[in-house]
Amino acid sequence: MQTLLNASYQTTAAGLTWTLLLLAQHPNIAGDVLAQAPSDPERGSLLERVVKESLRVLPPVVFVIRRSVRATKLAGHDIREGTVVVLSQYVTHHMAVHFPEPERFDPDRWLVQKPSPFAYLPFGAGARMCMGAMFSMQLFQLAAPAILRRFRLELTAGTRVDRHSSLTMGVKGSLPVMLLPQDGRFSAVPLTGNIHEMVRLPKVSETVGRLAAKAA
Ligand code: HEM
Repeated sequence: MQTLLNASYQTTAAGLTWTLLLLAQHPNIAGDVLAQAPSDPERGSLLERVVKESLRVLPPVVFVIRRSVRATKLAGHDIREGTVVVLSQYVTHHMAVHFPEPERFDPDRWLVQKPSPFAYLPFGAGARMCMGAMFSMQLFQLAAPAILRRFRLELTAGTRVDRHSSLTMGVKGSLPVMLLPQDGRFSAVPLTGNIHEMVRLPKVSETVGRLAAKAA
């Protein structure tokens, strides 16, 4: 029970927080997600791309650990029996060879990209892959639009957003947001903190400009 709670609670809380934060800071994408009508046969597809991209750029689990049961070679390195090997989802997801412009939050990259399951592995890969993967994808795709339909989440300009990272990576401390009635008037605000090391957020002036052009 403890494993299930630990494995499921922090990961999904971190993933949902990052996803909502990314949507709040990408007004165009948030607007498109909201505009998808429930009866739209394509509904879910943009949302699925948003969730996949969020789990890529800000993966809630940043590394997994293995112990080698026998001597072997890995990428040219000799691995002795008993060696502890750390594989990082975060590092792999930020390799430009797998994901061009890796720091860009670009859900539409999933329209063209089909990375190997060992290059995109928010839920791990192989025999010990997460047993909650499908459940979590469903949860994000139900919870994010349910929240978005009711509320416009607005961060306060100048808020510091840092990662806290152990095995899971979430927002350090708390993330103060204002819950406003959903009026579709999405707008990003300038943030500080090491979030900028991980994801290239659009400049606030850029998003305001693009939204104005869209409205016209
Ligand atoms: C965004 C949400 C989640 C992420 C990113 C995530 C990620 C992961 C990763 C990377 C692993 C592999 C660990 C390894 O290879 O050593 C894993 C394993 C596991 N996860 Fe998740 N997880 C999530 C949600 C959940 C949920 C909701 C549950 C339960 C309902 C869950 C239960 C488990 C269990 C039991 C394992 C161990 C599987 C095994 O060792 O055979 N996870 N998870």
